[in-house]
Amino acid sequence: MRLLITGSRGLVGYHAWQAAQRRALDVYLTGRGEAPPSASNYLSEDLTQPEGVRRLIEWARPDVVIHSAAMTLVDACQENPALCWLHNVTATRLLIEALIAYMPSTHFIFVSTDFVYDGFPAIERPYVEGDYEAPLSVYGASKLAAEAWVKNYPGPWAIARTALVYGWAPTLARDNILLRVIYNLKEGRVLPLYIDQVRTPSWAHDVGEGLILLAEKGAQGIFHIAGPDIETPYSFGLKVAQAWHLPAEKIQPITGEDYQPIAPRPSYSPLSIAKAQALGYNPHPVEEALKHIKIPS
Ligand SMILES: NC(=O)c1ccc[n+]([C@@H]2O[C@H](COP(=O)([O-])OP(=O)(O)OC[C@H]3O[C@@H](n4cnc5c(N)ncnc54)[C@H](OP(=O)(O)O)[C@@H]3O)[C@@H](O)[C@H]2O)c1
Repeated sequence: MRLLITGSRGLVGYHAWQAAQRRALDVYLTGRGEAPPSASNYLSEDLTQPEGVRRLIEWARPDVVIHSAAMTLVDACQENPALCWLHNVTATRLLIEALIAYMPSTHFIFVSTDFVYDGFPAIERPYVEGDYEAPLSVYGASKLAAEAWVKNYPGPWAIARTALVYGWAPTLARDNILLRVIYNLKEGRVLPLYIDQVRTPSWAHDVGEGLILLAEKGAQGIFHIAGPDIETPYSFGLKVAQAWHLPAEKIQPITGEDYQPIAPRPSYSPLSIAKAQALGYNPHPVEEALKHIKIPS
């Protein structure tokens, strides 16, 4: 299987690559910056450029694409909707158009988000695939608009919605909740974390495994590829502090009323993973995952 991974310098793309390597798949990587360490098949392209996208598809001739590249900073998207749309919607459309033109039977796997939901499910239970989508933020709206392009792709497609991804990779351009907790508490800084945002934090390693599972199974449709535990950023932060022996009292519980972020976020967006589990997806509970994570100092 020839597999193309976009966003391979990012947290999810990197771990999809690692999962593919564990299975010795024929992997082609792309991103905008330099190749990640030890990447042999890497082409740097900006996915907002039609010529670059065409070059990429002709180079990789993929059987499967895992499209994880995106503008992922939710507040930055809110402040610059046009840029967010370009990176998240236009780039996805260009990839799909290039596949239709050159590789029309490629399996297209799009990495999406719990932020396509508004956080007001009819009953308070984890979201299931097929629940009503109503994004609150520009970022969530851009991912849902990209999903619409994916659903119109005439070839086989899957949408993998994930949530609050944590972990480490060597080429990260942004932090995540795990690194934020560790770095702030190590420096002795107070870290405010929400107690009124309910999520299913997802270990990047598990998300990578889940994406490769979808690829190997030729899975089609929408899947939640998230962690098995329901946490708030605050409760997750306490677990990180405990695992790294850091001062948990430096984590300050806050609510959306105390501090309103630039972009609105769903207050309740845990994802049910039963559908993916039926395929063989088996993510680690938070405490287990934290035992495995190594962060170079
Ligand atoms: N992180 C989360 O908590 C979370 C939660 C739910 C869903 N997701 C989804 O998961 C996916 C991966 O997220 P992540 O956390 O891995 O993000 P990330 O660490 O920010 O990585 C995203 C990557 O996308 C690449 N990229 C952005 N715009 C590009 C463009 N125009 N052309 C080519 N590459 C571009 C960047 O490449 P360069 O580094 O080379 O610039 C970057 O490495 C995204 O689709 C995101 O929406 C993430």
